[in-house]
Amino acid sequence: MLKNRSLVSISDLSEDDVNNVFLKADEMLGYINNSKKINIMNSKILATLFYEPSTRTRLSFESAMHRLGGSVISMADSKTASVSKGETLADTIRIVESYSDIIVIRHPLEGAALLASKFSSKPIINAGDGSGEHPTQTLVDLYTIRKELGDINDKTITIIGDLKYGRTVHSLLMALIRYNVKINLISPENLRLPDYVYNELKNKLNITISSNLEKYIDSTDVLYVTRIQKERFTDKNEYSKLIGSYKITLKEVDKMKDNSIIMHPLPRIDEISPKVDITDKAKYFKQASYGIPIRMALISMIVGD
Ligand code: NCD
Repeated sequence: MLKNRSLVSISDLSEDDVNNVFLKADEMLGYINNSKKINIMNSKILATLFYEPSTRTRLSFESAMHRLGGSVISMADSKTASVSKGETLADTIRIVESYSDIIVIRHPLEGAALLASKFSSKPIINAGDGSGEHPTQTLVDLYTIRKELGDINDKTITIIGDLKYGRTVHSLLMALIRYNVKINLISPENLRLPDYVYNELKNKLNITISSNLEKYIDSTDVLYVTRIQKERFTDKNEYSKLIGSYKITLKEVDKMKDNSIIMHPLPRIDEISPKVDITDKAKYFKQASYGIPIRMALISMIVGD
């Protein structure tokens, strides 16, 4: 049961919770496809508090709440909010909890959503805390694999890109512990998984670490591509050196097996050639569209009657 619970880490959810979200998302997808109006969130308010840029996550949460018949209040730009006057996160949360029924927060600092959950009597959803986690993206990612490939089990999942700072990768790997999967982690040496994440996973997942995609591409079922997280680098020269260090082009797509797919949490910078978009392997826009049924499912399970 998710009723009244916060979602800070993907580990907060049991296998049953995750499966129940997927079942509910299927139901929501049915409503969306039939343009059926549902009013189950009538009189409920969702607040989005975004201290970092976002397109998909904030808009899909807001769209999901509107589709459920609820209302939305939003702080989309921290520069125009009281935080710019020096208000603490704790104080902001104490106020916003009295204005809403559920709060979605994105913040540049790891642990911010956890902190927010300690000061709020209303459920908090972590929409990204620095390089920490992004649990709702993981639900979207797992749902996409399930929808596009039928099952998550028995798949080889190759994750390429910024494994160090990429919060979607951290949450996804933690969730994949529950499945029978083979994981290849491909990145430049400097962008390997942080030790604290690797140590959590190493005895629970079958992981291969490499800098060479070539060796693993033809056995991959899911190629999960991420961008280099420019905003997390303290040394911008370090970032400049890594630009263009990996790129998925039609050459890579040609080597992939039948029925394999390419995913990306987006935004994409230059790590997937736009030419790949029209191939049947490209599922990243579909993946983004699943953000709506998944977030409708979550909101309705957390604040619904
Ligand atoms: C991701 C994020 O914010 O971590 N974006 C998203 O929510 N889809 C990935 C990224 O910014 O690279």
